[in-house]
Amino acid sequence: MNILFKNIKELIQVRETSLNFLSGKEMSILPTIKNAYLLVENGLISDFGLMKNCPKTTYKTIDATGKMMLPSWCDSHTHLVYAGNRDNEFVDRIKGLSYAEIAENGGGILNSAKKLQATSEDELYNQSKKRLEEIIQLGTGAVEIKSGYGLTKDAELKLLRVIKKLKKNYPIEIKATFLGAHAVPSEFKNNKSGYLHMLINDILPTIEKEKLADFIDIFCETGYFSVEDTQLILEAGKKYNLQGKIHVNQFTAIGGIQVGVENNALSVDHLEEMRTADINALKNTKTMPVALPSCSYFLSIPYSPARKMIDNGLPLALATDYNPGSTPSGNMNFVVATACIKMKMTPEEAINAATINGAYAMNLLDKVGSITKGKLANLILTKEINSYNFIPYSFGNHCIDKVFLKGIEIKYH
Ligand code: NIG
Ligand code: FE
Repeated sequence: MNILFKNIKELIQVRETSLNFLSGKEMSILPTIKNAYLLVENGLISDFGLMKNCPKTTYKTIDATGKMMLPSWCDSHTHLVYAGNRDNEFVDRIKGLSYAEIAENGGGILNSAKKLQATSEDELYNQSKKRLEEIIQLGTGAVEIKSGYGLTKDAELKLLRVIKKLKKNYPIEIKATFLGAHAVPSEFKNNKSGYLHMLINDILPTIEKEKLADFIDIFCETGYFSVEDTQLILEAGKKYNLQGKIHVNQFTAIGGIQVGVENNALSVDHLEEMRTADINALKNTKTMPVALPSCSYFLSIPYSPARKMIDNGLPLALATDYNPGSTPSGNMNFVVATACIKMKMTPEEAINAATINGAYAMNLLDKVGSITKGKLANLILTKEINSYNFIPYSFGNHCIDKVFLKGIEIKYH
């Protein structure tokens, strides 16, 4: 698909060459071109620059007067393939039960696993594709999706096959993560090592055979999986070429970040509870810290200390955590706004975290995350707005007029 966008009020996140992730002070710089054009050829960004240098073409032309353009959001952490929902637990929490109490009473992840086990692959696909279409319409152009609501061999594989089918049928970039170690299922209640053994020796070989995952994950948390379990899973992942992207420091800080870094994890996610030692462990490494502010919002738990992390020179990515228990929302616009409002990130930092750094956290920086020649034309065209500050300012809403994936306008509903 070839298109010329002309008279773009401001072209945001312009990078001449595909760079590495952004850390510390670099995160406060968001390069833009005012009064710009952008050319799309064969689904890729082929050229862009000042309007005065706009080439003459016979391509379909979109006049973007008054509107801004930025690369699509990169959501590096979701669990959007799940069955049903948990709105009853939401009401229980309003009435005073804690997230932990609900999980202890058979709710939580085990509740979602029961529902998913009882749902056919086709039905799971149909429920999940609606969520995928919804986030695409909200500006997401690359997404990571985890398993972890199956918790049996059959159900985990069913979930991963649904992700594979979504990847085949939709133009959005999708990466899959195996999160079998999300919770210990009741059948293995007193035999956690037996469960881990099953994940490693029974499920991983099939995942490799059917090419069902890109990454491996574990919920490293008090009451779920320990630092030792995390070491075991990350080592097993390496044998199958699955880099780690792990859930750590959500409720307690138990050393999971250190294990992640030592095992070259691509990202460590959640980070609501961060000790100074955890921040120090991430310095000068290739492991991306990922904050999930809508999870903090929904569960009323602390927000990741983004200021402290960035001021200490760390990079930071932002993602939704879209899942039925802690974050039933896949809206990256809300994530970017909440990061500014609650975590005191500047709009520049939040946009960098939700594009370039998010792309890095999915190993997709060569394809998405910035306006760079040769990258996919996965683009957001905004409504008429005065400045990009308006994107986080208009929280709970969004400023999107049109979205494009590989240069094609997407309209599901
Ligand atoms: O990332 N923290 C672990 N897993 C999910 C939520 C699990 C659930 O409640 O279903 C998360 O927040
Ligand atoms: Fe998560």
